[in-house]
Amino acid sequence: MCGIVGYIGSKDLGAVILVGLEKLEYRGYDSAGIAVIHNGRLVVKKRSGRIGDLYKLVNGMAFNGKAGIGHTRWATHGGVNDINAHPHVDCKSQIAVSHNGIIENFQELKLELEKSGHKFVSETDSEVIPHLIEEYYEGSLFDAVLKAVKRLQGSFALVILSSMEPDRIIGVKMGSPLIIGVGKDEMLLSSDQMPLLSHTKDVVVLNDGEICVLTQNSWSVYDFDGNPKQKYITKIDWTVDMAEKGEFSHFMLKEIFEQPEVLRRNLEYYIRGNEVTLLKDFNLRRLLLNKDRILIQASGTSMHAGLVGKYLLEKLARIQTDVDYSSEFRYREPVLGQNTLVIAISQSGETADTLAGVKLVKENGFEVLSIVNVKDSSIARESDYVLYINAGPEIGVASTKAYTAQILILFLLSLEVGLLRGFVSEEDFSRMRDELFELPGKINDVLCESGYVKEVATRFLDAKHFVFLGRGINYPTALEGALKLKEVSYVHATGYAAGEMKHGPLALVDKDLPVVFVNPKTSVYEKSLNNIEEVRARGGIIISVASSGDLKMEMLSDYVFKMPEVNELLTPLVSIIPLQLFAYNVAVGRGCDVDRPRNLAKSVTVE
Ligand code: AGP
Repeated sequence: MCGIVGYIGSKDLGAVILVGLEKLEYRGYDSAGIAVIHNGRLVVKKRSGRIGDLYKLVNGMAFNGKAGIGHTRWATHGGVNDINAHPHVDCKSQIAVSHNGIIENFQELKLELEKSGHKFVSETDSEVIPHLIEEYYEGSLFDAVLKAVKRLQGSFALVILSSMEPDRIIGVKMGSPLIIGVGKDEMLLSSDQMPLLSHTKDVVVLNDGEICVLTQNSWSVYDFDGNPKQKYITKIDWTVDMAEKGEFSHFMLKEIFEQPEVLRRNLEYYIRGNEVTLLKDFNLRRLLLNKDRILIQASGTSMHAGLVGKYLLEKLARIQTDVDYSSEFRYREPVLGQNTLVIAISQSGETADTLAGVKLVKENGFEVLSIVNVKDSSIARESDYVLYINAGPEIGVASTKAYTAQILILFLLSLEVGLLRGFVSEEDFSRMRDELFELPGKINDVLCESGYVKEVATRFLDAKHFVFLGRGINYPTALEGALKLKEVSYVHATGYAAGEMKHGPLALVDKDLPVVFVNPKTSVYEKSLNNIEEVRARGGIIISVASSGDLKMEMLSDYVFKMPEVNELLTPLVSIIPLQLFAYNVAVGRGCDVDRPRNLAKSVTVE
């Protein structure tokens, strides 16, 4: 995980790098640091804590060099302390490196370097990198980096600075993301687009096995043998204000409220008159029409969207669909074949397990379709086909708007394939299209009830455990509701299929256990009522998500979050909204750092 940034230009070095790190803080936030050129020497300032703490350490210092690098850390090797914070330097403090990723052979390299007299100060894997570059340095930083990277095993994105060659910064990509920002009289390097937005819209996305050299007015890219590579500038289509909180107190809240707009944007983009245009690529269309099995692999919230996708693809397109955690999929020799299409789902497009799953499928000679938010991300580039969810930057660590956007794309995909395969009639299609366009308004109605959700949340700030239950297409909603709550509020919550309660978890129920039932009007509505009765009979506190005007649910529940009635297949897009708001409000009420929950990072780029 971790975020890395580099800058070369004439602006205030310290300020540019610190602001860049703030934009990357969601990637890791246990320590941070910068290394800049000042009076011809390297100055390193780093400490454990947030970027705010680093600001205090730097204390507005003006640096007179032109180049600097920065790092925000999510610890893997070595505890969270000032020494383990990046950037790391060589013995003479002339070479500084910010590293995102893991160096798997660091122990062996460290022993070797120690034998040659190098002195290590940290417990990190990353510190071997500046020492290795130092070992190979014979008058050219570029040549030394080329030699060093050939010795590294694992995944790494590096930003390298040296006081011996203060007119350049060098970037290396292998496994972790790295992007060049091409500005006017300035160049930048960053783990993602966010720090670049206020400087330039022109970017060059690096591929694995590439090294770049940036000076104030030039950029060039090479392979690991030093051969120049032809690369092209692409444009970022996100804007600065998309990455700001605006009037909202947290990104998570802003992103929850953005959902109607994200859905509307996608509907307008992907539906043209009587057609869904997701499969306008003829090859993708042919691919989907020739498969009789889909295997979705994803992590966390994206995996929950995949579970909803299973219901949609099976119901509308009649294609057998299996869903797997990427971290399981990649290690268990999954049965792949000509008739199976693998779909990867990822907001960031950088999740290490999901990316490894994509690579595994490709190595076996099969094609991959990915559903991704971040353009040009690693998963998008590794896949044969990409469907973008157009959610804009999602900065809160808890995924909200990406989840509903992923489900919408899965819905549209299922609808289009269903139509093409003859399982959805023109009539059904027109009806569902109209229902889709009503969705943003219906979600807005639920958002208007956020005051009530907050009031209910306030009553449960001291609850120790929650159980979330749902059936059918809202079983994944229960899983996602529980994940949201635990990740932002640190309260234990478990999601379960409502019908499974009596097979074990019912034993948990007592008068202190809040049980959240997701039970809008669907084909399994009546079945869930029985499950609610079972919990009530044992004294559990019932919070429910139910369709407006459902008196039965009102009678059975202690608290009801109401949602408008929608087509059963669209219920997950609405029923999750009060649960996102609930998690948010419990977290705020408990004083948690909602946008940056402890121990987590937005992009999980390590195994
Ligand atoms: C969501 O709230 C989580 N922070 C997490 O589960 C996330 O969904 C998961 O890490 C997958 O990320 P991705 O969608 O970027 O691949």
